[in-house]
Amino acid sequence: MTIVIAIDGLAGSGKGTIAKNISSFYNFPHLDSGILYRSVAYLCHKGGENVFDEKRVLKYAQNLNIEEINVDKLRTEEIDQISSKISSFSSVRESLKIFQLNFKKIHSDKSGIVIDGRDITTVIFPDAEIKFYVTASLKDRANRRFEELVLNNPKIDKKLVIKELQKRDQRDMERSVAPLKIAKDAIVIDTSDLTIEEVNIIVQREIEKVISKKE
Ligand code: DC
Repeated sequence: MTIVIAIDGLAGSGKGTIAKNISSFYNFPHLDSGILYRSVAYLCHKGGENVFDEKRVLKYAQNLNIEEINVDKLRTEEIDQISSKISSFSSVRESLKIFQLNFKKIHSDKSGIVIDGRDITTVIFPDAEIKFYVTASLKDRANRRFEELVLNNPKIDKKLVIKELQKRDQRDMERSVAPLKIAKDAIVIDTSDLTIEEVNIIVQREIEKVISKKE
């Protein structure tokens, strides 16, 4: 049996780092579902789409070949905003859902997988064995996002990063399809005042509880 560890959270909350650490500690394959939305956004941008038409965006989602995408190009301010916009299209979400469900199927020989995003605990894997909801203060999240973006754009304005993050938060939480919310049975972790090591301890303690029950 493959244990699903599902992680949701706001941009910059630290969910990606948590997912990567679980993946390397337990040797569980990891899927960052944000990469899927970002890849579709990148293709739209490259294809010159300015006004987003759901049918056209869907074509990009359906024909997505993740192997062909250079992930280094996906963490820009433009892609942040476009991915947040196109993720409100229900047909696009449905198409990317298939990709995410397949991820579990192709790793059915593994004892676990870890997947992070916005709707993993609520829509994609509502029956996941372990669910985490990761959060952090706006200030801490903006600082982390700034550190990432400044690598691509040394002139980036911190105030703008905060504003754009707020816009994204609002869109992610208020969209009508699969909005980000805390699943009833999710373990909530606020990473604002915790070190990575402290977060790892909390996360591993929860995972061990589930693994020991399965044995
Ligand atoms: O996690 P991220 O910042 O890389 O995600 C980029 C965008 O994709 C984010 O603004 C919302 C969207 N997204 C989503 O709607 N559902 C997911 N499961 C993952 C990401």
